[in-house]
Amino acid sequence: MRFDVITLFPEMFSAIKDEGVIARGIKKSLLSIHTWQLRDFSDNKHRNIDDKPYGGGAGMVMQVKPIRDCIRKIKQDTPGTMVIYLSPQGEKLTHDLAKELSELDSIALLCGRYEGVDERVIEHDVDKEVSIGDYVISGGELAAMVLIDTVSRQIPGVLGNQDSLNDSFSNGLLDYPHYSRPEEIDSQAVPAVLLSGHQANINAWRSKQSIKKTEEKRKDLLK
Ligand SMILES: C[S@@+](CC[C@H](N)C(=O)[O-])C[C@H]1O[C@@H](n2cnc3c(N)ncnc32)[C@H](O)[C@@H]1O
Repeated sequence: MRFDVITLFPEMFSAIKDEGVIARGIKKSLLSIHTWQLRDFSDNKHRNIDDKPYGGGAGMVMQVKPIRDCIRKIKQDTPGTMVIYLSPQGEKLTHDLAKELSELDSIALLCGRYEGVDERVIEHDVDKEVSIGDYVISGGELAAMVLIDTVSRQIPGVLGNQDSLNDSFSNGLLDYPHYSRPEEIDSQAVPAVLLSGHQANINAWRSKQSIKKTEEKRKDLLK
């Protein structure tokens, strides 16, 4: 899977490129992240890519031309790539959407700043808008990193142990509780079944706990 990221802050992506699960996926050549500095597509000497909004009002708007030129270049290099604009107005990012996106060969991620991008980019250059939740953050970079992380986890081989894919939401429920050493701390003991060595009983207990946790914390998922 190839990710192309259009951003004013490419250096932010070293946070996921250099460490952890994504870095391992890159090392195994299962994924790659290419950042594009939008200012390189500016046609003025100050490297501006934004201007005041027509109609007045606060904030600046990211202009069409540099974004369109950058997307054209990405599509030239990687024909057929899906262009996603990270936006609070987009489809909510869920486990199911991440799984669907993980089946693509390439995704280009457009990170907005300021008041966002000129509407004509959304109308003509973007295939899909994706939101990480009903709140506003200051730029699309963090949202793009969240998307890259959750999509990459779905790519076979990226996670060391495929069992780690059985996390919350993978079967529509929340994950069961986890315990590690010691067996007891401050009078809190690990549930006896987990120490029994009886795998069928352990699996049954985990299934039950998964449903219980979902009932307690996210009843909406059981519908
Ligand atoms: C300050 S926001 C602009 C918000 C925009 N004026 C609005 O109210 O819809 C700047 C950028 O952050 C990103 N962003 C903000 N909230 C987001 C969210 N919930 N999901 C994904 N991206 C988000 C988008 O790329 C957006 O262009």
